Amino acid sequence: MKQFLPDHMRKLGELDISPIGLGTVKFGRNTNVKYPRPFPLPSLKDLKIFLETAKALGINYIDTAPAYGESEDRLGQLLGYERHDWIISTKVGEIYRGTSNFDFSFNHTQLSIETSMKQLRTDYLDVVFVHCSNDDLHNLQYTDVIAALRRMQEKGYVRYVGASTKTLAGGYYALDNTDLVMITSEPNQIPILKKAWEKKTPTIIKKPLKGGFSKNIKASIKKALSYPSVVSVVVGSINKRHLADNIKHATSF
Ligand SMILES: NC(=O)c1ccc[n+]([C@@H]2O[C@H](COP(=O)([O-])OP(=O)(O)OC[C@H]3O[C@@H](n4cnc5c(N)ncnc54)[C@H](OP(=O)(O)O)[C@@H]3O)[C@@H](O)[C@H]2O)c1
Repeated sequence: MKQFLPDHMRKLGELDISPIGLGTVKFGRNTNVKYPRPFPLPSLKDLKIFLETAKALGINYIDTAPAYGESEDRLGQLLGYERHDWIISTKVGEIYRGTSNFDFSFNHTQLSIETSMKQLRTDYLDVVFVHCSNDDLHNLQYTDVIAALRRMQEKGYVRYVGASTKTLAGGYYALDNTDLVMITSEPNQIPILKKAWEKKTPTIIKKPLKGGFSKNIKASIKKALSYPSVVSVVVGSINKRHLADNIKHATSF
């Protein structure tokens, strides 16, 4: 079975990050999602085995969010004393309770980080992204969300501050004002990946398999990893065989 070796690791600031990360929407939420097929939430026991498999494959990065239902809480229960073996990113801004709402205020941002730390049973977060709405530029430019994230970073609760954006304007703003950016690798986002490389700003790719609708999984993963600014590609999965296949694709250069 292929696994990531030290040589495969990429640099996120001072951290060594695996080229594939675990996207954990499916760990905690199965309502109002757009995956090809409905699915039951996995049991904690199955997720434990899944995380052990991921670790054995050399994956050390997990992406979650308060908007992913039970994902943060379940990860907190499962990681326990192994939390320090993982790079964890979560998000602020989107609140999901059957429908999505957004709050980018200073107070909500701080409260959201405190809640995420409680759910994840940790006293620091490696990365916190702004979980942008469709109006990403406005979220970042005209609210206090980045100021609040920076305050939590100064206090030592957050290592790196980023934004998960949707538009070119939002992505460019995030490149100029945060430590890293999460975007898709869809063709309209490529200028951001190029600019990120010029600025030496790390990027993380979300939804690399078009939410499960990619016709060529291997090509999608290899393409996303081919951009030099990309430090990790976050693939959503709760299937061990898919996970192993994805590592095989990522290491087949
Ligand atoms: N706004 C944001 O910040 C934002 C938005 C979207 C996503 N994200 C992040 O990005 C992550 C990934 O996005 P995503 O989960 O929406 O979509 P994705 O990674 O593009 O696709 C996930 C889907 O692909 C399937 N899959 C994975 N590997 C496969 C393989 N080898 N062969 C066949 N099918 C495979 C998964 O099913 P199985 O479970 O059966 O493997 C799942 O249904 C999320 O989990 C989240 O962490 C962030």
